[in-house]
Amino acid sequence: MTNLPFLPYGRQSVEEEDIAAVAAVLRGDWLTQGPAVAAFERALAARVGAAEAVACANATAALRLAYTALGIGPGDAVVVPSNTFLATASAARHAGAEVAFADVDPDSGLMGVAEAEAAIARAAKAGWRVRALAPVHYAGQTAQMAGLAALARAEGLALVEDAAHAIGTVDLSGGDLPGMMDGGERPVGAGWREVEAGSLTVFSFHPVKTIAAGEGGAVTGNDPALMARVRRLCNHGMRRTPEPGEGFADPDAALDAEGNANPWYYEMAEPGFNHRLSDIHAALVLSQLGRLDRFVERRARLMALYADRLAPLAPLVRPPALVPWCRPAWHLCAARIDFDAARRPRSAVMAGLRALGVGTQVHYIPVHRQPYWRRRYGDLALPGAMNHYAHTLSLPLFPAMADGDVERVAAALERVLS
Ligand SMILES: Cc1ncc(COP(=O)(O)O)c(C=O)c1O
Repeated sequence: MTNLPFLPYGRQSVEEEDIAAVAAVLRGDWLTQGPAVAAFERALAARVGAAEAVACANATAALRLAYTALGIGPGDAVVVPSNTFLATASAARHAGAEVAFADVDPDSGLMGVAEAEAAIARAAKAGWRVRALAPVHYAGQTAQMAGLAALARAEGLALVEDAAHAIGTVDLSGGDLPGMMDGGERPVGAGWREVEAGSLTVFSFHPVKTIAAGEGGAVTGNDPALMARVRRLCNHGMRRTPEPGEGFADPDAALDAEGNANPWYYEMAEPGFNHRLSDIHAALVLSQLGRLDRFVERRARLMALYADRLAPLAPLVRPPALVPWCRPAWHLCAARIDFDAARRPRSAVMAGLRALGVGTQVHYIPVHRQPYWRRRYGDLALPGAMNHYAHTLSLPLFPAMADGDVERVAAALERVLS
């Protein structure tokens, strides 16, 4: 067992090499906009098989950059599963768009094709122009991507994958899809080049996620023009050099008498943000990226132990439902518990576990139930998301957990439910 008196539901793993990487930045010349950010972007793109990565302040910023770079705005709508963190929807709203909430499978918590189609139909009724699907790879398993990518392609929609939970996950569904360019294994972040309206993936490096920056996020993609726009928007909408094939918007201000770009010159193509990642954060997450495989392996081992140890507690407690179309890098151990049958409200179970040194959390309150969205859209009926919410409880899962900690959690659960 770990010597942690309390097991939180998630926790970062920081080692001496991470501390050394951050200290090296602090001793160097660049705290931001320096080489650590560029090195992290190259390493992340290579790791996930994308042409390019843009690092940014967090996944909320990454989502905002993705939606805005795709030109999504007022009158448009984004399809977002209700079983997600607030940010997937809020970022669309900040871009001016409406959110067409989709239902999810009550067991896996993932949006499927039928749920996305139903959300598109509701959006059409409301008079919104649906522009993108934003599937969420909940807990580290991919949404039904081959089907969703085919739907996006057929409907002329963009794909913004919210992979805040899923760095290191590999999607296996592409091979099933006729007409897809490259079938078989596809790391999350490689994107779906087949989706002509645009395909971007968003990651979070919050400390409970698989690799940590403290605060950090990224957008990955393959379309050079789209990624150039993401990069520009991340840094005030500024550019110092024109995009390939374009001149400066204001050549008189940009160029000297010999036609060379003035060294101080920058121009704003459109209003942007300061969503940059600092080099301090980038150094930490780059160092962590080097251990991603180890983290994923350790999480897989802990999940296998949970599956074995929770099996005798069925049907009261069931481990997360597995989907066949991915090799997950598990972020959450979202167990499913029948609190009614156990005659224990979830709050009492959580309090009982806490008293025994076991932290838990609920992922998620369906976003469409939030007061803001209810005021905006009324009470939507999304029974899959409500069913998932009623039964879910995230148990401790982080790489520093020892095998014996799974026993500790399961024994505590048994005790609290008995
Ligand atoms: C599914 C999902 N999307 C987006 C976010 C936002 O990530 P960040 O905290 O990096 O802004 C989170 C964070 O919890 C998340 O879980």
